[in-house]
Amino acid sequence: MISATCVAPVNIALIKYWGKRNEDLILPVNDSISMTLNTNEMCAKTTISASEKFERNRMWLNGDEVDFEENVRLMRCLKGVQNLVLANGISKVPLSWKLHIASRNNFPTAAGLASSAAGYACLVFTLARLYGLPHNEELTTIARQGSGSACRSLYGGFVHWHRGVLENGSDSVAVPVVPAQHWPNMHVLILVVNDARKKTSSTLGMQRAVTTSTLLQQRVTDVVPHRTKKLIDAINTRNFTEFAEITMRESNQFHAIALDTFPPCIYMNDVSHAIVNFVHSYNEAAGTILTAYTFDAGPNACLYVLEEHVPKLLASINEAFPNDIAQSVEYLQGIPMTTPSPVSG
Ligand code: ADP
Ligand code: DP6
Ligand code: CO
Repeated sequence: MISATCVAPVNIALIKYWGKRNEDLILPVNDSISMTLNTNEMCAKTTISASEKFERNRMWLNGDEVDFEENVRLMRCLKGVQNLVLANGISKVPLSWKLHIASRNNFPTAAGLASSAAGYACLVFTLARLYGLPHNEELTTIARQGSGSACRSLYGGFVHWHRGVLENGSDSVAVPVVPAQHWPNMHVLILVVNDARKKTSSTLGMQRAVTTSTLLQQRVTDVVPHRTKKLIDAINTRNFTEFAEITMRESNQFHAIALDTFPPCIYMNDVSHAIVNFVHSYNEAAGTILTAYTFDAGPNACLYVLEEHVPKLLASINEAFPNDIAQSVEYLQGIPMTTPSPVSG
């Protein structure tokens, strides 16, 4: 038996991916940009074992068996990596050997904290390690076919997923913008408002948005291309206030589109909205933008803040969310850092 174990981090989108132009290949309607978090804080850890004695491919997610062979996305990732192995000509493991895959997330699954991103990035990266493939751009096109956001978790720092123009999706790749070290004092606070599974998965929510939202098209053609350029500039020049404003506007527009979907998708709750109000009051009192929120498809907040401002922000969060609300808000502190990595032992 031959095994490989790797960990992969989550990434949180600044420019949001919401909508596919091709459901099978997972090709997005617009570009997106994200920041990858520190693997130690929030990650998926996946062990894959291959043996000539295994009769079929099996997978366990957080301890429960999932139907691997029936799952189109999981199988697409496996076939994608195996095709690369065939093209490569050498493999550490015979392709005929079946696999047993066990993956665990050290944070809530399907709660809007990008578990599908860490999970599928980890699956593809661990498969590549098992077969002895190098880390390259093509792996991002395979991870993308597991879950769109997963292609961005194959790199650390700030990452740009290009929508691409080709029908076969070969140019819909994730590429690094700058590594984490470019902006070393950038921090994220994750406020876990509710760790339950979301009612409408990202996949279904964005499908419904594409078919029913009348606002989505304008976002795709006008807003995102402009914001993408501006955000890349802000990242390159470490312009926090510009970065923060684009990030908050993006989060708000994404949730506006979710509401414009019919029937609407409501991902944020009262606590989420209280966090939005808190951030704007906090910045107003400071006379400048010190922190920015973004919410993915769930009620949990990610707050971007420079390291030197973390203690003051944390103190204000504790003050603003006392008693009952404070109990439902936990925080973890993360820094953007890592790419997937193999785990020894
Ligand atoms: P999230 O906001 O957490 O990304 P999604 O609705 O996008 O939620 O995706 C959740 C789904 O992603 C899970 O139901 C599961 O199918 C898949 N997933 C989550 N974690 C993993 C993992 N570690 N390995 C493989 N697939 C995973
Ligand atoms: C709101 O990547 O989870 O987090 O491709 O259908 O698996 P599928 O969806 P997924 O969607 C992520 C949506 C988002 C924004 C983002 O990460 O860009
Ligand atoms: Co997801």
